[in-house]
Amino acid sequence: MLTAISRYGVRIPQNLGKIVAHCRKRGELARGPFIAHFEDALSAYLGSGRAVSASFGRMAFFYILKAFQLPAGAEIIVPALTFWVIPEMARVAGLKVVFADVDPATFNLDPECLEKAITDRTRAIVPTHLYGLPCDMEAILRVAERHNLYVIEDCAHALGARYRGRPVGTFGHAAFFSFQALKPLNTFGGGMALVQDPQLGQRVADLAHSEPWLEESLLLRRLRFGQLQRFFMKPAVFTMTGFPILWFSALLQARPDVYLWEAIRSLNPLPAAYTRRYTNVQAAIGLAGLRELEKWNEETRCRARRMDEALGGLPWVVTPRVPPDVLHIYYQYCVYVPNRDDLVRRAILRGVDVETLHVDVCTRVGLFRDSWTSAPCAERAAQAVQLPVYCGLKENDLRRIAAVIRRALLNQTKKPLVASQSVQ
Ligand SMILES: Cc1ncc(COP(=O)(O)O)c(C=O)c1O
Repeated sequence: MLTAISRYGVRIPQNLGKIVAHCRKRGELARGPFIAHFEDALSAYLGSGRAVSASFGRMAFFYILKAFQLPAGAEIIVPALTFWVIPEMARVAGLKVVFADVDPATFNLDPECLEKAITDRTRAIVPTHLYGLPCDMEAILRVAERHNLYVIEDCAHALGARYRGRPVGTFGHAAFFSFQALKPLNTFGGGMALVQDPQLGQRVADLAHSEPWLEESLLLRRLRFGQLQRFFMKPAVFTMTGFPILWFSALLQARPDVYLWEAIRSLNPLPAAYTRRYTNVQAAIGLAGLRELEKWNEETRCRARRMDEALGGLPWVVTPRVPPDVLHIYYQYCVYVPNRDDLVRRAILRGVDVETLHVDVCTRVGLFRDSWTSAPCAERAAQAVQLPVYCGLKENDLRRIAAVIRRALLNQTKKPLVASQSVQ
């Protein structure tokens, strides 16, 4: 029987079982020495700044906002295309969110739109290195300097990506990373702030480190959930479980995967799980993963290049545009096609699960009605499709994905297509 290919691959360091058993045996699941080691190791890997661990990437962002002591009601500019949680956390921190449109070719904040969104109340901007592609940092930093703004890089998708040879996260005043299960470095949840100014870094550490420890039962539940996710993504298990649901849904033109995503809701007050410390066992997993990160990123990049070759010849397909001076880590491989929804259905019916939108067009999310503005390029970018190129894919899988997508696209051309707008 043909196995189905999942849209996601979870990165797991070698010896995961031994790492958890070691921490458990020493009674150091929640607190222990690995937290400080991991913070130091991440800061050393990135090459500058003070790293401070947190329960989530979003909480690392929240502590940065609090430590910067931005006045209540100050404006913060966030890309219109991002994960809804980030503007929501800025609101919880008492700021007014202003959205700026993205460049549809890179999916990242457009420096011109950014500058237009600035007012005399703007204090900070959040360039998000979406899908693992670095933003145009030179242009963004120039705008920030001109207007005297804090720059907080959202590196949730981009650990290991580089702009002009330098790791993302080291360009702004601060940055944050996510270690949620699907991210470039997975520690089954958690996040890290990186702050360049030592005093501000100390303030972030005071906030993050004064939270109570996560209860051991909750931590064990989180690790078990991570193991379950990993189990259900194994090709044979996915083929027998999640995939049949997706397959029948494709026939019925339904979208069950939307129920897997975190429901959009107010985060004020912050949920209890947020205000906890990052744990020792997760840090130990992070240390082991950090040793494999470059290899994982390179393997993913190789698969992305292969996909470029397979799809690049099709005139109506736009493969990811990578500026010459950046290193993309392809957290998502995002492609414009003529008729996205039709392609998704055809791919799923042939055993390849693909994703449509990994983040949100925040300018149409009801929670942010007060900040709604026109963002046509974010709307356009939401019409792209994300194809699997993750590092766990076998050579055969990759060939199969490319063949299925090519065939689906070629078959599409025999049917009426939704006109595709041009994306340079
Ligand atoms: C662009 C972006 N920023 C921030 C985050 C937040 O990370 P976390 O889930 O660790 O809070 C995510 C999570 O998926 C994300 O996609």
